[in-house]
Amino acid sequence: MAVVRVIGRDGGTQNLNVAGGGQLMDALRDANTGVQGTCGGMMSCGTCHVYVDPAWADRLPPKSEDEAAMLEAIGELVELRPTSRLSCQIAVDDGIDGLCVEIAPSF
Ligand code: FES
Repeated sequence: MAVVRVIGRDGGTQNLNVAGGGQLMDALRDANTGVQGTCGGMMSCGTCHVYVDPAWADRLPPKSEDEAAMLEAIGELVELRPTSRLSCQIAVDDGIDGLCVEIAPSF
């Protein structure tokens, strides 16, 4: 279980209690944050894009080449930031308790 602080597209914030063992994308989608996760976590849609709080950027496992490539692919459609991540690639465990993410704009 982890508590994740979520900044919505409207600027509102909420704290989500997220069960461990899955991917953050699922919790964000189920909480109606606007994350769609259309591809189900296969790194082929980019609709799970979030901006990770810079304070957390180095505390998460680094991006894989495939994740970086998917982010690059959506970069022409939506603003990318140095802390852009695919939330389907953020595993939920106790180590992310306190994580803060902002939901990126839809495209
Ligand atoms: S759910 Fe499709 S890229 Fe993350």
